[in-house]
Amino acid sequence: MKLLTTLLLLTCATVQAAPFPEGNEQTGKAIFDKYKCNSCHIEMLGGDGSAIFTRSNHKVHSAPELAVQIKQCGGNVGANLSAQEVQHLGAYLNRYYKLK
Ligand code: HEC
Repeated sequence: MKLLTTLLLLTCATVQAAPFPEGNEQTGKAIFDKYKCNSCHIEMLGGDGSAIFTRSNHKVHSAPELAVQIKQCGGNVGANLSAQEVQHLGAYLNRYYKLK
């Protein structure tokens, strides 16, 4: 029983160590929609555009890479995204990347 409790605690600790601890997924989605982030991705790949994150040769493979790409793409829409906004977007987009 004690072992089980320890295991559960360890699992919780892992979940909390998310790559974008300062980010909020819902806020990230709102920012994503506000800047129409998928507008180009839709032109490129069709559908709802989210295939850009899951395509087999997708570029992003780590949280720092994701942050850099978000910042770059933010520049595409003339948004000078703050570090906090990047965190929110990262937390949201991690639904596709599932980075640890
Ligand atoms: C002006 C067009 C355009 C807009 C607007 C745009 N993107 Fe992108 N995005 C791209 C292009 C082009 C790529 C692919 C880059 C490559 O393959 O080198 C890309 C790729 C990405 C990727 C990486 C996908 C992968 O391969 O893993 C992420 C993450 C991303 N965009 C996030 C965003 C976010 C967040 C926004 C809104 C702030 C946004 N994009 C707005 C053009 C755009």
